[in-house]
Amino acid sequence: KKDEYILGIETSCDETAASIIKNGKEIVANVVASQIESHKRFGGVVPEIASRHHVEQITVVLEETLEQSGVTMEEIDAIAVTEGPGLVGALLIGVNAAKAISFAHNKPLVGVHHIAGHIYANQLVTDLQFPLLALVVSGGHTELVYMEKHGSFKVIGETRDDAVGEAYDKVARTLNLPYPGGPHIDRLAQEGEANIPLPRAWLEEGSYDFSFSGLKSAVINTLHNASQKGEKIEPANLAASFQESVIEVLVTKTIKATKEYGVNQVVLAGGVAANKGLRAALEESFRELKDVELVIPPLSLCTDNAAMIATAGSVFYQLGKRSPLSLNGNPGLDL
Ligand code: KG4
Ligand code: ZN
Repeated sequence: KKDEYILGIETSCDETAASIIKNGKEIVANVVASQIESHKRFGGVVPEIASRHHVEQITVVLEETLEQSGVTMEEIDAIAVTEGPGLVGALLIGVNAAKAISFAHNKPLVGVHHIAGHIYANQLVTDLQFPLLALVVSGGHTELVYMEKHGSFKVIGETRDDAVGEAYDKVARTLNLPYPGGPHIDRLAQEGEANIPLPRAWLEEGSYDFSFSGLKSAVINTLHNASQKGEKIEPANLAASFQESVIEVLVTKTIKATKEYGVNQVVLAGGVAANKGLRAALEESFRELKDVELVIPPLSLCTDNAAMIATAGSVFYQLGKRSPLSLNGNPGLDL
């Protein structure tokens, strides 16, 4: 049987990325052009700058991906592209590139939800075992997703305000740490002691939803009150206390859902999955749940990339999904 090759494209935020995946499992080429340096001085992603960089980079990234892979366009079975959610102007660059290739080379086009991509990054690590639960933690999303089978997504809990990565980045900014702040808080937290009382947003009994804006405000108020009283707060202790609150809620709700839904596997996804504290806390908690496999992807597959989009694209392609050439970027796309 002939090998399947999927070309994936991702431009939903500030990474211009392309990848080729063989048989839905193996990375043949994976190129990510990060724009972080350009956005850093603004303390966050500036949509217009992101779009402009995507336009400049997309052809270069695609050419490098094909060159790295040694695969020809004739051998490609389908083009998978992130259609949403994300920044609309950024999504459009990837979607239009994918449509142009699809049209020029007469290859099927498969639109992929960005979060489906993050979840399917785990298929590059191991075989997915259903039913599974995915904890999706990124700069734009915080969700618990139940999957009964391939291509089936049920969001059982989500954030009601800030995404967890967003809260990390905002707290980092109040501590004058560079953007993106997540990794800096994570590093600081390892050096500090979680001795500052901060709230945990459990929400109503039984809810798998999350809320991080109250915690973020509590951190800002703690700093503000201390400076008014002329007291000094150790940034490392504040980072450790913030991180402890975040992790306690994420891990507790994940364990509860794991038991309630009787899943065989729990997979971690999204940029915040790079967090050392979160990885360690999940590993520790899952050691007791012997029948459930915990899967944590390597750092390079946690942050935005196109390998995850091509992998999800391969699954959807096999399930028969085809997108029309009228495909558009959809910033509010539902999973
Ligand atoms: O998935 P991602 O690359 O982009 C989105 O789709 O949002 O996630 C980026 C987010 C940023 O908010 C960044 O601060 C956060 O992931 N992040 C971390 C860590 N590494 C990246 N947050 C906490 N700890 C980390 N080690
Ligand atoms: Zn992402």
